[in-house]
Amino acid sequence: MSVDLLLKDLKAYVDGRIIECCIAIDNGRIFKIGKEPIMPRAASYTSLRGLLVLPGMIDVHVHLRDEGKAYKEDFYSGTAAAATGGITTVLDMPNNNPVTMSVETLKNRISVAAGKILTNVGFYSEFPKTLDEIEAVIREGCVAFKLFLGDQVGGLDINDDEAVAEAFRRIGGKVPVSVHAEDNETLEKSIKKLKEMNRNDIEAFLIAHSEEAEIKAVQRVIKISKLTGVHVHFCHISSSEALELIAEAKRAGLPVTCEATPHHMFLSVEALLQMGSIALTLPPLRGKSHMDAVWLGVLSGLVDVVASDHAPHTVEEKRAGSVWNVKAGIPGLETTLPLLLTQVNKGFMAIADVVRLMAENPARIFRLKDRGHVRKGYRADLVAVDLSKECRVDASGFNSKAKYSPFDGWEIKGKPMKTFVNGYLVMDEGEIVGNPGCGEIIRGTTL
Ligand code: DOR
Ligand code: ZN
Ligand code: ZN
Repeated sequence: MSVDLLLKDLKAYVDGRIIECCIAIDNGRIFKIGKEPIMPRAASYTSLRGLLVLPGMIDVHVHLRDEGKAYKEDFYSGTAAAATGGITTVLDMPNNNPVTMSVETLKNRISVAAGKILTNVGFYSEFPKTLDEIEAVIREGCVAFKLFLGDQVGGLDINDDEAVAEAFRRIGGKVPVSVHAEDNETLEKSIKKLKEMNRNDIEAFLIAHSEEAEIKAVQRVIKISKLTGVHVHFCHISSSEALELIAEAKRAGLPVTCEATPHHMFLSVEALLQMGSIALTLPPLRGKSHMDAVWLGVLSGLVDVVASDHAPHTVEEKRAGSVWNVKAGIPGLETTLPLLLTQVNKGFMAIADVVRLMAENPARIFRLKDRGHVRKGYRADLVAVDLSKECRVDASGFNSKAKYSPFDGWEIKGKPMKTFVNGYLVMDEGEIVGNPGCGEIIRGTTL
């Protein structure tokens, strides 16, 4: 018996332990993990020269754009950025042009993506115009629904709790709902007032996108989750009070999870005021006490997932004259894992935390079958990292079309060196070596 590929001279994170071993890969899956003498022969051999192999990272919050927004990012550039960052699966957000919110738009998006992707991609859908279409969208393969409460994006009236509850009921237990928690009415009232006062500066933006707007939305959605039993995943939580509400909901046994972004973990509002609109994102960067609370949540297990919220825009869009016209968002696919590995090197986090937050929990919460672990029979989605590699973030060299970053110039220690997707080497020492189309479309697994 001969397998497709044997990875040797490596360490791997397997079921909570780091072991010296080889990994045999056949037909896109992990065939065997073990010491060299007991491994099968292979058609090809790769020595990883002591690198540490982790499960491929899963980024559950990515805006890949393409279609009408391909000038910001497309499926190839976005998944090339993911592979460079050690990420083997991304979940794509639906606020596209056209918005992913129906069987037709989802079907079309999947067919545009199929030939271009280097990593695996699953798709969110916004809620469709009619509740009757929800089931068909799930059947078409959306991995989760997205509920954007800050602004009207999908077909559901976001200010009508009864309508939201009914939509949740229609989902049943089939897929989770990821929520951007900013309360639209709170935002609109405040923005209107500030515009009347001719305010268009970053401080005004911060007043509008207050912690209260986040807290109110979290409260609303927790109530709806309690009524309907639907799994709610809160995106990019940024304030200590919102985290407390989520902790309370978890203690009460509600099916609630949440995520933190690297920008809310590593940057405070001071960085925003210093760097200006390039670091503008939603929800915005907050004060140090909120940042500390996010970190505490990440390390204690209250925060289930770290996700990049990779949200690329052009530099011109980031530099609009009025803050109300600036496109919010930060590219993060190429910096998220290196930033976390740097924390591991500093002794602030363990490798086990990184794997839990960016592989195991994402796979469990979004029901990504056979991914998230280095385990026999699982998909051969792997990242080999060099924990001792030191470098500086250089946004001008990103594969993303968004070649800027609030982390530009930061010192990093710990770097993804090789990324394997379904057994194929896609990224090798910073170079993309995979062919477009070698990533897989992931469909929800519940039907
Ligand atoms: O900063 C953000 N950018 N927050 C969002 O919710 C949307 C995102 C985007 O699509 O650019
Ligand atoms: Zn969001
Ligand atoms: Zn987002």
